[in-house]
Amino acid sequence: MSAAAAVEFTGVTKVFGKGDDAQVALDAIDLRIEPGEIFGVIGYSGAGKSTLVRLINALEKPTSGTVTIAGTPITGVPESAVRRLRRDIGMVFQQFNLFRSRTAAGNVEYPLKVAGWKRAERKARVAELLEFVGLSDKARSYPDQLSGGQKQRVGIARALATSPSLLLADEATSALDPETTAEVLRLLRKINRELGVTIVVITHEMDVIRAVADRVAVLADGKIVELASTFDVFADPQAAPTKSFVGTVLHNRPDGGEVARLSSVHSGRLVTVDVDDQHGIGDALAAATRAGVRFEIVYGGVSTVQDKTFGSLTVALDGPDDAVADVVATLERRSA
Ligand SMILES: Nc1ncnc2c1ncn2[C@@H]1O[C@H](COP(=O)(O)OP(=O)(O)OP(=O)(O)O)[C@@H](O)[C@H]1O
Ligand SMILES: [Mg+2]
Repeated sequence: MSAAAAVEFTGVTKVFGKGDDAQVALDAIDLRIEPGEIFGVIGYSGAGKSTLVRLINALEKPTSGTVTIAGTPITGVPESAVRRLRRDIGMVFQQFNLFRSRTAAGNVEYPLKVAGWKRAERKARVAELLEFVGLSDKARSYPDQLSGGQKQRVGIARALATSPSLLLADEATSALDPETTAEVLRLLRKINRELGVTIVVITHEMDVIRAVADRVAVLADGKIVELASTFDVFADPQAAPTKSFVGTVLHNRPDGGEVARLSSVHSGRLVTVDVDDQHGIGDALAAATRAGVRFEIVYGGVSTVQDKTFGSLTVALDGPDDAVADVVATLERRSA
């Protein structure tokens, strides 16, 4: 038997409302999140992402199916058991949810008070947490005196206070600018790598997935339409919503309109090929030159995800028909 999943959904359906007003937020979800991974969930507004989070921390009950956290079912168990499980889950919010009347240190200290820690131990733990998130110098600042990124780091320190093994981040960077987002995402990675915390990242931004997630589930209309490693999802998206999410950050392949425009400005034949670490196009283009075929790279992009390269390049080829056909054949064989 494999180790218990950090989170496991088995046939989980969540319906809000009844009769004509019934709204299926999640539809027969099967999902296994492994201990120690950063698992991304992406979907458009209303896809069911927050509902999924609220089922993990037992703020909602499934209409049917079971949710299991670290091997323990959280459905059909007493409220006291749910509270105990919830203590092992940290939560980070889009709007930070800090107490405005408490300092950064006071906010981080709050869950420790609730958990009954002694004052001296609380103070030591708060200092350690603020140091970890890089905010030791802001301990006495109030939320209103902090930037968005600093507020979110306080939120993260607070979520980590009682050393949870699972951290849920629901749109944790959606209120932040791109640079601050990158900082917060780096911090999430550090938490995962250094503390071994399993992290579930909920987002509608593919860049967030790309920056942190080991694996990703694409949620659409309450169903998981794709689940794969982040690399595979970027390199070879299958479902329509996945393709559209990937298309928002990668502009590798020309769409119909772009092909038409390229054809109108380049006289040669257009060919689009995939490239990765093993399949470049240098050799094929050198052969093209030898055969008297001129080429121009007219579209494309090459990117790295999870330390692996992939991308797509569109080449316009000009020359004798036979020679061009040979080059196209070489390019297409190469990428097979
Ligand atoms: N408490 C509720 N009562 C009734 N319907 C709800 C409730 N919570 C969520 N829903 C419905 O369930 C569906 C999924 O909502 P959910 O909040 O999970 O989506 P989401 O993916 O988090 O969207 P967003 O990106 O906008 O946050 C929506 O149609 C929503 O209207
Ligand atoms: Mg939501």
